Amino acid sequence: MRIAVLNGPNLNLLGQREPDIYGTTTLEEIEQLVRHRAVVSGTEVEWFQTNGEGEFVTCIQQIGARVDGFIVNAAAFTHTSLAIKDALLAVGKPLVEAHLSNIFAREEMRRHSVLADIAVGVVTGFGSTSYLLAFDGLLAHLENR
Ligand code: DQA
Repeated sequence: MRIAVLNGPNLNLLGQREPDIYGTTTLEEIEQLVRHRAVVSGTEVEWFQTNGEGEFVTCIQQIGARVDGFIVNAAAFTHTSLAIKDALLAVGKPLVEAHLSNIFAREEMRRHSVLADIAVGVVTGFGSTSYLLAFDGLLAHLENR
C-alpha cells in the first residue's frame, strides 16, 4: 500500500505558528510519527507540503496514479479550493481529510470544507494525532475494499 500525505499553506510553520491552536509539534515531527506508523504496517508514505494552490494541484496530478490513497490537510485551501477538489476527483483515489484544530469549533469561515463531501472521512481537532487517526482510517478503508 502507498499513501500520500499532502499538507497545505503555513503548515511548514507548525511548532511556532499559533501554538495555542496548532500545538508545538513541528510538521517534520508529525511526518516522523506517520512514517513510524507506516513502517509498522508495511505502508509506503510520500510526504508533501506546499504553500501554493497550483503546486498542490500539480502534486495531486503527478502522484495520483502511483498512490492508493491520500491524507489531505489542505489548510486554508480546505475552505476555498475547487481546484484541489477537482484534482482529487480527477485522480479518483480515496482520501481522508485531516486537521489539527477542530474546524467546526472555530470561526464561521472555517466550518465549511469543500473537500469533506468527497472524503472517506474527516479527522479534526486531535492535534498531531489527527494524522495518525487519519492514517489508520485510510488504511482500514483501503484494506477492507
Ligand atoms: C487547519 C485548519 C485550517 O482552517 C487552517 O487554515 C490551517 C490549518 C488545521 O489543521 O487545523 O492552516 O487545516
